[in-house]
Amino acid sequence: MTAWAELHLHLEGTLEPELIYALAERNQIQLPYTGIDDLRSRYDFQDLQSFLDLYYTNMQVLLTEQDFTDLTDAYLARAGQAGIRRAEIFVDLQAHTARGVSAGTVLHGVHRALETSQDRYGISTGLILTFLRHLPAGDAMLAYQQARDTGVPLLGVGLCSSEVGFPAAPFAEVFDRARDDGLHTVAHAGEEGGASYVAEALDVLKVERIDHGVHAIDDPALIERLVAEQIPLTMCPLSNVRLKVVPSLAVHPILTMLNQGAKVTVNSDDPAYFGGYLDDVLAAMHTDLGLSEAARRQLARNSIEASFAPDAEKAALLQLWPAV
Ligand code: ADE
Ligand code: ZN
Repeated sequence: MTAWAELHLHLEGTLEPELIYALAERNQIQLPYTGIDDLRSRYDFQDLQSFLDLYYTNMQVLLTEQDFTDLTDAYLARAGQAGIRRAEIFVDLQAHTARGVSAGTVLHGVHRALETSQDRYGISTGLILTFLRHLPAGDAMLAYQQARDTGVPLLGVGLCSSEVGFPAAPFAEVFDRARDDGLHTVAHAGEEGGASYVAEALDVLKVERIDHGVHAIDDPALIERLVAEQIPLTMCPLSNVRLKVVPSLAVHPILTMLNQGAKVTVNSDDPAYFGGYLDDVLAAMHTDLGLSEAARRQLARNSIEASFAPDAEKAALLQLWPAV
């Protein structure tokens, strides 16, 4: 039985090396690698920033609306195989507009694939506009306005990119604006940053979900709050291993936090870069963390409950996971 919601997925992080090369050829772009093997050899990351540098570099192959449609469609096809029935997808719009690609090109291209996702893959979708935290908050407001002007429906806004040394507070205004417009709000926090970054995202940005939140484990009072308020944490264990946020999967705190009663979910983050899609993450958790059937079911149910899908859709998906 598989019916999952994926709630922490960067569209640009699904750009597989083969597609990078196919798009480079289609768009006549010279990549700074000698070939796919050379590119793959660079997927050995030291930390978040070393990953982000490669991630942003590789995006240069995405130029046309069709490129964004193809990228989105490839993810949805693979997500369907992984048992995903609901996907709330992050798009780093500013990483594209900064390269001269218009907001309309990006968002209409993505939307074209999302529109047919339910019929083609049985996956309902939503788009979350993720602001880049290493850029000024004024840029985020501009990106928000540009996105709204395209008319493409948004599910929510988020915050990602480099964390440590980039406070969330300056982004409060754009988050307030999005909330006033009826959008959902999420933010990356507690990935490389400590527990205080999680508290800041909750208190200052007033987000509904925390993306990652691994370092919440260091602060018992914060864990107590997350449990009491049932604030979802969209965790990404393979990502955390590959970015050296944790030393190994075997010591990842995800199941400890689940057992403590936190509303933990499991996600792939940037599957093309971190060793796999949701089914791969679950398989690795089974092998290295001894993921039990009961915990797997709880993680699946949490993912659906923590999603921003309409209530009727959540209820229908939850029926596929009757309590044991
Ligand atoms: N953008 C893409 N992947 C990310 C991650 N793991 N953390 C922060 N920003 C990101
Ligand atoms: Zn992420």
